[in-house]
Amino acid sequence: MTYAARLTVVGCGHMGLAIVRGLLGATPRPRILAVETNPERRKVLRTVEGLTVGAELAITAGDFVVLAIPPQAFGAFAAAERHRFTADTPVLSVMAGLTARTIADALGTTQVVRAIPNTPSEVFEGMSVYYAEPAVTEATVAQADLLLASIGQALRVDVEELVDDATAICGGGPAFVSYIVDAFCQFATSRGFSESAGRAMAAQVFGGTATLIRHSDKPPMQLCREVMTPNGTTERGIAAFDAAELKVSVLAALTASAHRSRELASALSAGAHPRNDG
Ligand SMILES: NC(=O)c1ccc[n+]([C@@H]2O[C@H](COP(=O)([O-])OP(=O)(O)OC[C@H]3O[C@@H](n4cnc5c(N)ncnc54)[C@H](OP(=O)(O)O)[C@@H]3O)[C@@H](O)[C@H]2O)c1
Repeated sequence: MTYAARLTVVGCGHMGLAIVRGLLGATPRPRILAVETNPERRKVLRTVEGLTVGAELAITAGDFVVLAIPPQAFGAFAAAERHRFTADTPVLSVMAGLTARTIADALGTTQVVRAIPNTPSEVFEGMSVYYAEPAVTEATVAQADLLLASIGQALRVDVEELVDDATAICGGGPAFVSYIVDAFCQFATSRGFSESAGRAMAAQVFGGTATLIRHSDKPPMQLCREVMTPNGTTERGIAAFDAAELKVSVLAALTASAHRSRELASALSAGAHPRNDG
C-alpha cells in the first residue's frame, strides 16, 4: 500500500503538524501540501519543516485531503471550499465532534473517514480511532489507516458513537494521564527530588507500566494486585485511592468528556454548512 499522489493537510496546528511529521518519516516520503491560514505558522512550516505550503486550498485529482482545522472553523471552510470537492474526493477528518455525515454533506463528498487521534502522535505513539460510513471505499479506508498508522496505532470502529467515547479515552487521555503524572511530580519535588528527577521517574513509571500492560495478558487489576504485598506500602496507597473513590472519579471524568463530545457533535452539526443538493 502506498500513499495517495498528494496529501493535502488543511490546518497545520498541533494535530495537523503531528500528522505531517509522521508522514515526513514515511518511506518513500509522500508528496504533501500544507494549507494553513496562520501566516506565522506558514513561515515555520516552510522554513523549519521544509514543506510546500499554501494559504489557499487546492485539490487535484488523486489528492487525499486531511482536515485538521478547529471544528468551529468548519462551517465557514465548507461554505467557501465546497466547490473544490467532488463526490469521490477522499477526506480524513480529525476534527473532534463533527460526524462523518455532517462533513460529507457539507463538502459534497461521500468519501469521509472520521478519526480521533491524540497528541502522542507527535512522537509516533498516537492512538487513533476511526470510523467510515458504508459508502466509503476500502481504498479510502486503507489510505486513512496507512496515514494514521504512520503516527502510531489505528483502530477502526463500525459504530460512529464509539468515536465520541474514544474522544474521551484517546483524545483527552494524554491530558488525563498528564494530570495524574503531575501529582507524582508534585510529590517527588515535595520530598526533595529535583523537578527533572521527579519528571524522569514519573515518565519512566508511566511509560514502563504502559509497556508492561501492552506485553502482558494479565488484566490491569491483576498487575496492580501483584504489587500489593499484604499490609505493605502499595496496599496502603490503593486504600487511600479507594477511600477517595478515585476510580469513580476517573469514570465520571471519562463519561463527562464523552458526553461533551456528543453535545458538541449536535451543536456543530447544526452550525455546519447544510446539504446543498440543488
Ligand atoms: N490537539 C489535540 O489533542 C486533538 C486531538 C484530537 C483531535 N483534534 C482536532 O484536531 C483539530 C486541530 O486541533 P489543534 O489542536 O491542532 O488546533 P490548532 O493548534 O489551533 O491548529 C489548527 C490550525 O488550523 C488553522 N486553520 C483554521 N482555519 C483554517 C482554514 N480554513 N484553512 C487552513 N487552516 C486553518 C489555524 O490557524 P489560526 O491559528 O489562524 O486559526 C491553526 O493553525 C481540531 O479539529 C481538533 O478537534 C485535536
